[in-house]
Amino acid sequence: MISALALCILFALDSAVALGPAPVNLRTAANYAILSKSGVSTVPPSVITGSIGTSPIAATGLTGFSLTVDPTGQFSTSAQVVGELFAASYSAPTPSILTVAIGDMGTAFTDATGRVSPNFSNLANGAIGGLVLTPGLYKWTSSVTVGNDVTISGAATDTWIFQVAGTLTVVAGKKMVLAGGALAGNIVWVVTGSVSVAAGAHIEGVVLGKTSISLLTGATANSRLLSQTSVALQKATVNN
Ligand SMILES: *[C@@H]1O[C@H](CO)[C@@H](O)[C@H](O)[C@H]1NC(C)=O
Repeated sequence: MISALALCILFALDSAVALGPAPVNLRTAANYAILSKSGVSTVPPSVITGSIGTSPIAATGLTGFSLTVDPTGQFSTSAQVVGELFAASYSAPTPSILTVAIGDMGTAFTDATGRVSPNFSNLANGAIGGLVLTPGLYKWTSSVTVGNDVTISGAATDTWIFQVAGTLTVVAGKKMVLAGGALAGNIVWVVTGSVSVAAGAHIEGVVLGKTSISLLTGATANSRLLSQTSVALQKATVNN
């Protein structure tokens, strides 16, 4: 009787254990919906919920936002951003805060890209449209294309790291869909090549890009776009 109860409790505990790799710590990079080193552009109207940071480039690297600089000089605002925009040319303490955040973004990239013993290697040769992606570490030595809707399925505590050595492309109108309670904040795309979310397409997860991240007309993203070069938005929506 008691042992049966103990077994039940063990099973209950076991089913609550999170699946997937240890989370990637974004540290202060997690304070931004979009973070970049060489600028963020928008073709209005985009809708960004969360703050934007760019460093070491100056505020001239924030284009298309019709910025209003705050009287403190520490940040600016834009009708396209529910949040604040920060650049390395703004008043203290903004530049030093951004330097730390950019460093944290680099550390997170190095962490995520350095994870070993993938659960899945070169799955579907990178053509992942139509698949259901369960929690785990995924590694592709080539590019990855979402040519059809792809489902990322798992519990709210589960994690995914997708290592992509080439480019990541979500084809026009195609979507990443979450299932089972999976959270965008527990999904990391660490991409060495450029990231392109084509017109009307949708991406879920934290994107750690070594190079550019582009959201074409009407594309949408849940979570964060963290680029070691630039981020380009065209009438795009970014929520974190
Ligand atoms: C993924 O691989 C790791 C290391 O080999 C293993 O411990 C873990 O159970 C695997 N996870 C899944 C969800 O298969």
